[in-house]
Amino acid sequence: MSYLQLSEIKFGMTLNQVLVSPNGNMILGQGTVINEYLLSCLKEWNMKGIDVIEETAIEINLAEIEKVISDIGVSLTDSASMETHLQSAAQMHSEIETELKGIFLRAKYQGRIPLDPIISLVNMRIYPRLSRGDSFTQLHTDRVTENYLYRHALDVAFLSGYLGRWLGYEDNEVWNLTLAGLLHDIGKTRITFEMLSKPNKLNLEEFNIAKFHVHYGCQLLAQTGIIPNVVLDAVLQHHERMDGSGHPYGISGTEVSTLARIVAVADVYDTLISNRYYRRGVSPKEAIQIMKFQMEGQLDTHVLACLSESVLKLDGINRMPMLHELAM
Ligand SMILES: [Fe+2]
Repeated sequence: MSYLQLSEIKFGMTLNQVLVSPNGNMILGQGTVINEYLLSCLKEWNMKGIDVIEETAIEINLAEIEKVISDIGVSLTDSASMETHLQSAAQMHSEIETELKGIFLRAKYQGRIPLDPIISLVNMRIYPRLSRGDSFTQLHTDRVTENYLYRHALDVAFLSGYLGRWLGYEDNEVWNLTLAGLLHDIGKTRITFEMLSKPNKLNLEEFNIAKFHVHYGCQLLAQTGIIPNVVLDAVLQHHERMDGSGHPYGISGTEVSTLARIVAVADVYDTLISNRYYRRGVSPKEAIQIMKFQMEGQLDTHVLACLSESVLKLDGINRMPMLHELAM
């Protein structure tokens, strides 16, 4: 660890202090990896130097990562054929959850998003399954509860992708939706396990901390410098509500990005149907009823109608909601 002049800072070095922009709009946490954009911000803020952890400096090859992203359209075809050799849906979900756990833990302890495994996960494991109906049914089978954070991320990725497909979105938008769904709660890696797993309603202080996960997540993703803005918006706005009752900004209607409205529906639905160690989830049809009536006006009606149509086709799968959970 050492204090270096700004001129000595190289991309990939890890910040060893907390920095707040002069106008207070941007917070860089300890563990933030410096990239080209962040270095330009530091220069703009007239910083003379910062504390960094030199020994963990890594080379971030942005050009290479950008190429991975630009190749996505090409590799989707290969992914689809590879998909035919994958194991059963249940086994695969379990494997993906393990991969996701590694990704979330790296985000938690290294303060940065490991892009390659995430892109590979979406590209090779999740996106190709969106053309099959079994994954949607799989989301409703008996659910392991100890890995809720990862399971929920995976479910919301699938649900968001499915909704994008059913709503007739273009492939690249469906891909962005899948990525946004997978990473919508990545900011929760900066919230303590005790708070995340608290069975009772959070007090005001805890709730305000928990609400910050959308900012944390957006910050982690923005640090990569290459995650599309529509994905960043979806992560930042997935707790906004159509009637302005959401957070963090209380925006409403068309102010809420299209992708954020879809991820919000996926997020709420999966939260309602999920079993937790302190309660069981509701049935898919009950979840739709709650979203339509108890949450009337909060969710995009078009997106909700689309989900409702598919849920009604499911055979009765039964599984009590804790509505306060929907706000975090
Ligand atoms: Fe969230």
